[in-house]
Amino acid sequence: MKNLLVTGGAGFIGSNFTRYMLKKYPQYTLAVYDKLTYAGNLDNLRDIAADARMTFTQGDICDADAVRATLRKYRVDTIVNFAAESHVDRSILDADAFLRTNVIGTYTLLEAAKELGLERFHQISTDEIYGWVTKPAHETDPLIPRSPYAASKASGDLMVNAYYVTHGVPTTITRGSNTIGPYQYPEKAVPLFVTNALENKPLPLYGDGKQVRDWLYVTDHCEAVDLVLHRSKPGEAYNVGGDNERENVEVVKIILDTLDKPSDLVRRVADRSGHDRRYALALEKIRALGWQPRHSFEQALTETIRWYESNAWWWQKIKSGEYREYYEMQYGERLRMSEAVAV
Ligand code: NAD
Ligand code: DAU
Repeated sequence: MKNLLVTGGAGFIGSNFTRYMLKKYPQYTLAVYDKLTYAGNLDNLRDIAADARMTFTQGDICDADAVRATLRKYRVDTIVNFAAESHVDRSILDADAFLRTNVIGTYTLLEAAKELGLERFHQISTDEIYGWVTKPAHETDPLIPRSPYAASKASGDLMVNAYYVTHGVPTTITRGSNTIGPYQYPEKAVPLFVTNALENKPLPLYGDGKQVRDWLYVTDHCEAVDLVLHRSKPGEAYNVGGDNERENVEVVKIILDTLDKPSDLVRRVADRSGHDRRYALALEKIRALGWQPRHSFEQALTETIRWYESNAWWWQKIKSGEYREYYEMQYGERLRMSEAVAV
């Protein structure tokens, strides 16, 4: 494997993965292919832009001709598909782009992988496809997605499996848990809470704040994808979790303490519709392949907080743009109706 197409490589995890792979594999080339939606950002690749082994193409994964042309141009043998609409709250406001990118886009890439006989198609999936769980989900558990985002990602996984079974496309899937680290768009809870705290703005906590997520550091996520690409046989799916289940309220508390900010910044706001109470993953399968997360929860969160503290140039630019309209739509009324909550 030498020439990778990294779709969604200008987003959060995709850009971290590109950086990680350039460093680890001096002989590989990485062709980043990204539509540059609101979440795509060339600043995420700024520090590696001069590396001749990385190229950038602006394009849509739903555009079959552009996908094929890019695969041929860069002699791609492996697709790693990070491209997605990724935010649950936006999928509640409008699911259209989620269906196009996460379902039709995945199908379009699979068709290209089939036609060009690629060595591997790797799909970046999520723990949300299992739905709200009461015990850690295994890879063979039924998919019971509950948000439009999760339903679109589950559909992507089903299509990947169909192309493996029906057409023999050599596919693999990783289902990651809530990932944090540098370059995450500040609509997601952790970068939103951290940057709001740095600006002394309210932290909008949905509902009772007792929802549980399993937090994973982004380079640990990248390492798991790397391992599956190189060590797994085709046709397999792997859970990738940080083994760090925490309630949202605990996360908020650590952020405020680390930044030495007062707890009255926290506001209880109207809950997310259909909010899943808990995600949790069984990790035996990926552990058996030789992976385990290197970061404890405290390390992952502290490193993340410190990065946003030191890189205000990155998030202040984002927060001054289109973001403001989204923020008003998502939080304006919620915050006006909110109450302070002791954490
Ligand atoms: P992100 O929103 O930061 O990045 C997504 C990227 O995809 C952006 O650069 C965007 O421009 C690009 N994109 C969107 N639509 C496209 C299209 N039609 N064609 C080409 N590019 C397009 O997302 P992320 O958080 O980095 O997530 C990456 C992947 O990982 C997604 O598939 C997501 O479902 C999955 N995932 C994310 C997490 C998490 O906690 N962030 C956890 C598990 C899985
Ligand atoms: O679990 C993996 C998934 O994690 C990925 O597939 C998604 O792409 C990613 O966005 C993330 O989804 P979540 O919905 O879990 O993440 P989010 O950061 O939006 O929210 C984390 C928790 O915090 C969740 O319980 C909702 C809550 N929350 C979120 C926001 C944005 C709040 O309380 N307030 C907020 O303002």
